Amino acid sequence: MAEINSVTTLETDGDVAVITLNSPPVNALSANVRDGLYEGFKAAIASDAKAIVLICEGRTFIAGADITEFGGAQRGASLFDVQNMMENSPKPVVAAIHGTALGGGLEVALCAHYRVAVPSARLGLPEVNLGLLPGAGGTQRLPRIAGVEKALEMMTSGRHAPAKEALEMGLVDEIVPEGQLKEGAVAFARKAVAENKPLVKVRENNAKLEAANGHPEIFADFRKANARRFRGFLAPEYNIRCVEAAVNAPTFEEGLATERKLFAELISGPQSAAQRYYFFAERQAQKIPDVPDDTPTRPIKKVGVLGAGTMGGGISMNFANVGIPVTIVEVKQEALERGLSTMRKNYERSRGARPEETEKRMGLISGSLDMNAFADCDLVIEAVFERMDIKKDVFQKLDAICKPGAILATNTSGLNIDEIASVTRRPQDVIGLHFFSPANVMKLLEIVRADKTAKDVIATSMKLAKQIGKVAVLVGVCPGFVGNRILAQRQREAQKLVLEGAMPWDVDRVLYDFGFPMGPFAMSDLAGLDIGWVKEKSNGATIRDVLCEMDRRGQKTRAGYYDYDENRTAKPSPVTEKIINDFIVKSGRNPRKISDEEILDRCIYPMINEGAKILEEGKAIRSSDIDVVWVNGYGWPVYRGGPMYYGDQFGPDKVLARMQEFQSKMGEDFKPAALLERLVAEGKKFSDFKQQQRQPEPA
Ligand code: CAA
Ligand code: NAI
Repeated sequence: MAEINSVTTLETDGDVAVITLNSPPVNALSANVRDGLYEGFKAAIASDAKAIVLICEGRTFIAGADITEFGGAQRGASLFDVQNMMENSPKPVVAAIHGTALGGGLEVALCAHYRVAVPSARLGLPEVNLGLLPGAGGTQRLPRIAGVEKALEMMTSGRHAPAKEALEMGLVDEIVPEGQLKEGAVAFARKAVAENKPLVKVRENNAKLEAANGHPEIFADFRKANARRFRGFLAPEYNIRCVEAAVNAPTFEEGLATERKLFAELISGPQSAAQRYYFFAERQAQKIPDVPDDTPTRPIKKVGVLGAGTMGGGISMNFANVGIPVTIVEVKQEALERGLSTMRKNYERSRGARPEETEKRMGLISGSLDMNAFADCDLVIEAVFERMDIKKDVFQKLDAICKPGAILATNTSGLNIDEIASVTRRPQDVIGLHFFSPANVMKLLEIVRADKTAKDVIATSMKLAKQIGKVAVLVGVCPGFVGNRILAQRQREAQKLVLEGAMPWDVDRVLYDFGFPMGPFAMSDLAGLDIGWVKEKSNGATIRDVLCEMDRRGQKTRAGYYDYDENRTAKPSPVTEKIINDFIVKSGRNPRKISDEEILDRCIYPMINEGAKILEEGKAIRSSDIDVVWVNGYGWPVYRGGPMYYGDQFGPDKVLARMQEFQSKMGEDFKPAALLERLVAEGKKFSDFKQQQRQPEPA
């Protein structure tokens, strides 16, 4: 075996040369990897071998360009040099794929003449999720193999196609058994030589493009069908334009030129910078300074859920989905049955649901009215009414019933978990697992560390979150934790703006245009204005009270802040407008014209300021964790990175100045956080802020 460089080797297996890449963790195409591939192929082509196999060691085939090198000066061989060397090889080149062939990795594989994969392999062009497009010929080659429609779908979703589907679309030529990738790829290469198979260059296959030629409606229809999903993002549109170029440009090279030009635009723009930042933010959130990766975890083989309401049902589904049995306990038979039947309906309604899958999952969920059913659970998650007295009562019971070492979690949206833990004899086993509604769909999980929560309980929760497909962020105990605490700032300002003269639809429009999926008032209408509203106590003290008193309770009554037609399309409501105007007059205020800029700044800046307070109080480990919470749980547009990233881009000094300006006009709601002032004085950013390490727990 010859060592080509520190990450690449070349060996021969009979008459087949095997180039092996080993650059952990994911064989990303760093300068060193590109050099190794370039020199490896050069040597293999010059050797006596009759065919060449490219294979990777470790968990995956090449997972893409090395994102950490973006923005730096080009070093080493270019990816195009590597690709040209492969494609023009006079000997068949076979890419052997396991794990994921993503982005630049798939683009390398597409320059092999053939591809073989194991059944568990997945292939995709996920650049769109980094605000990019495949910049190494992928936009020109994928449609040539998979056809225009499939390429558009894959490139704009970033989806990873499983090997079987890849085989069907021609992206993979053969599937070989798991664990036999190298043997299978070498055998394939040998067969290619023996049968004198052609040296297929994807770039020369135009048949599928010709089928789309003269059909611009394919693109128009695709844009229209996905307009909502793509709103605000640049990258999906640029990906589409590249596929259009593949179809319309007279030559492959000209299509490639369009790809290069659009790639250059994206990579130097603010959206991709934010999306790349976010990619690493999500991974960073998994790292907890005083809970290292090798912290032992507790086995979670059976989960209990207390309360089968809105949250309990959704929470249970997460575990059944990954094969973990769930026992769900309610107070009343009727509530239990309602909860179970909602879960069943959710399964039946989910896309591509198969009856046997529904049965399998429902078969893992058992109901009971007796909390003793939790005795053998490894984790119990409480999701009963949001009242401290009830929470304390059930935690005392759980403490008595659950086995030693079982984790007791609460799904409270903001109650004091230290107080809840204090009623148990095992506060070290108590933690917050704050799911978001609908809990079976929403990705975010705030894991709330109470004062005495043990490290292995945190490690277990982080691991479990990954297992059920959630993005977990560790936060500390404070009212509303990170997400809802910041939300409260925005809600307060939205309400105040309406009392000063802005209409709910003005506020909603500004936030929608900023990139949120909907504004706070449309959101209230969707959730129902009567959540937490008590008819008997209502006395017209707020606009919401007045609306509810008129039975304008939101979408469900076809009227709330907005009026709704039979398709639930919202229209600004003259009734609401009159209520608001009357309310303002009655309270002796003078409505004024409020600019869109003021609406945005009043809603956004206090959020950033609250994020700073959260950081200084140690309730989030780092500013990027706050961004992960807001992107995943509250629809902050990922192409703006998150509130703290946004603040950093704008400049903490400007955030401070605007807060001070508002403070002088409107009072203490805008009092700048001490940390914000300190960072500005030191010329630092939120991302520069490092949390003090926690003190070690007493033995
Ligand atoms: N570049 C640099 N580092 C990368 C990377 C990449 N492309 N992909 C993953 N990593 C790093 C992660 O940051 C992480 O590092 P830490 O352990 O230090 O946190 C480590 O590799 C492992 O990653 P994950 O935790 O995500 O591991 P996983 O097993 O859950 O997932 C994966 C593996 C599916 C490959 C996932 O990492 C992933 O989706 N990576 C990004 C793939 C991608 O977007 N590729 C396209 C790149 S852009 C491109 O290729 C442009 C072009 O056309 C030339
Ligand atoms: P819900 O009212 O829909 O369900 C609560 C369920 O708990 C009811 O079915 C009730 O019968 C049951 N229950 C009450 N006391 C019980 C007891 N002692 N033993 C067993 N079951 C009991 O409430 P929801 O919305 O599911 O909220 C539950 C918890 O989740 C609350 O703490 C809430 O703050 C939190 N939460 C709610 C979110 C939401 O959007 N609804 C989001 C995140 C957290």
